[in-house]
Amino acid sequence: MATTRRALRRLLVSGNWKMHHDHVEALHTVRDLGLRLGADDVADVDLSVHPPFTDLRTVQTLVEADALPLALGAQHCSAHDRGAYTGEVSPQMLARLGVRYVIVGHSERRHLFGMDDATVAATLAAVLRHGMTPLLCVGETTDERAAGHTEDRLGTQLRAALAGVAPEAVATMVVAYEPVWAIGTGNAATAVDAEDACAFLRQVVAEVAGDGAAGSIRLQYGGSVNGDNAADFLAEPDVDGLLVGGASLQAASFVEIVRAARTALPPVRP
Ligand code: PGA
Repeated sequence: MATTRRALRRLLVSGNWKMHHDHVEALHTVRDLGLRLGADDVADVDLSVHPPFTDLRTVQTLVEADALPLALGAQHCSAHDRGAYTGEVSPQMLARLGVRYVIVGHSERRHLFGMDDATVAATLAAVLRHGMTPLLCVGETTDERAAGHTEDRLGTQLRAALAGVAPEAVATMVVAYEPVWAIGTGNAATAVDAEDACAFLRQVVAEVAGDGAAGSIRLQYGGSVNGDNAADFLAEPDVDGLLVGGASLQAASFVEIVRAARTALPPVRP
């Protein structure tokens, strides 16, 4: 099973820095990552870092100058290309900076900034329009889980975001299952919960965009991931990566997670 999965989908470990690290701290963190990461660490794993907007240019310059094995990511963007949208950052601007992945609909955007499903869908379409990969976040709250509505919630969020997206585009996307109760709490989901949710999400993708897209789309788990639990999630057949918040802020703890990815799936040798 793992061999099949590996052949179809490379693991993706992403670090969401949230509102941490100014551009000077970003420079030190990325340098430190560059020193710690070896070729073996990224042979079978893709990595992305998602710093605040003000750090992107600094990180981009460093990654390019030192050819670091890190893709540049953003945490959010506008659904619009340009215009009178004070305080917003356009996907076009991100694409111009070499941003490859954009987190769309993180639960903090949904819950703290009122991002609704329609805005999530428009933002996702904008990211795709500019040739970047959306990293769509979905997840249920504590109350929704307690009421037995987890699958309803995940299905509604995913279907709303994917409506109108071509199956070939869906195939290139990343979806992160991030239960709201597990984010930043130290109370991670179990690997079995993460697998159940990801298997369900893959089934919804199959219904919406076909089996091809369902086989190719990468599904991450996020919520209190650390070096001790990372391998358990990645050993699950439908979990193709991790979206890491707190533990991605320090190079040492992020690299620990990257190395756990290697142990979860030992390289398949011909
Ligand atoms: P956490 O955050 O790893 O700090 O729980 C995850 C996320 O919000 O993406």
